[in-house]
Amino acid sequence: MIYMLDTADIEAIKKAVDLYPLAGVTTNPSIIAKEKRSFADIIRDIRAVIGKDRMLHAQVMGKTAEVMVREAQAMREIDEEIIIKVPVTQQGIKAIKELKALGFRITATAILTPQQALMAAVAGAEFLAPYVNRLDNICADGTQVAAEIAHLIDVYQLEAKVLAASFKNVQQVHEIAKAGAQSVTIAPDVFDQLLIHPLTDSSVAGFTSDWESVYGAETTVL
Ligand code: E4P
Repeated sequence: MIYMLDTADIEAIKKAVDLYPLAGVTTNPSIIAKEKRSFADIIRDIRAVIGKDRMLHAQVMGKTAEVMVREAQAMREIDEEIIIKVPVTQQGIKAIKELKALGFRITATAILTPQQALMAAVAGAEFLAPYVNRLDNICADGTQVAAEIAHLIDVYQLEAKVLAASFKNVQQVHEIAKAGAQSVTIAPDVFDQLLIHPLTDSSVAGFTSDWESVYGAETTVL
């Protein structure tokens, strides 16, 4: 599983880089807008925290392929390794083809159907981001959509990966993992929840109390 954090909150990114096997950070225009400062500053600050080897995904805002490509080129001036997120509209698919030809790495986003994902992959997208919770919210089974995308990648031997997105709870992440999604992007609050279990805490507390009753408080094994 490739784990990414879906946020532009620098403190949350620092924490995740420190604690988790984090492969990258994804943003979208809503996430960037929450920070209320310049896009370029946010991207530079995220890169400074994640280092050069982790992925950084940022989304274009243009309504036409021409503008999207221009935005991607400007983004590359800010961050050479940036992965460009493009929504799967008609203009988006056109932009994906052009960006691929220009050597960009691309994440197709706002995917709600397997056919959108398939066309984006054929056009050249490396990551395909179905919105799991937004589908679940309308009883459209986000896990099933992601599983069908993973199946199509397999059937057509495509060079793309599912980057499942839009999670609101751990069960959704679990279902997606079982469905064979290669990567997930998760907001910080749900990411932290992936490890939480009261029995883990009580197990560790039991080990601590047994150990310290013999070897003394705050001692370690060596
Ligand atoms: C990822 O590509 C999306 O930007 C994001 O995961 C959407 O999440 P949301 O549905 O919680 O806004």
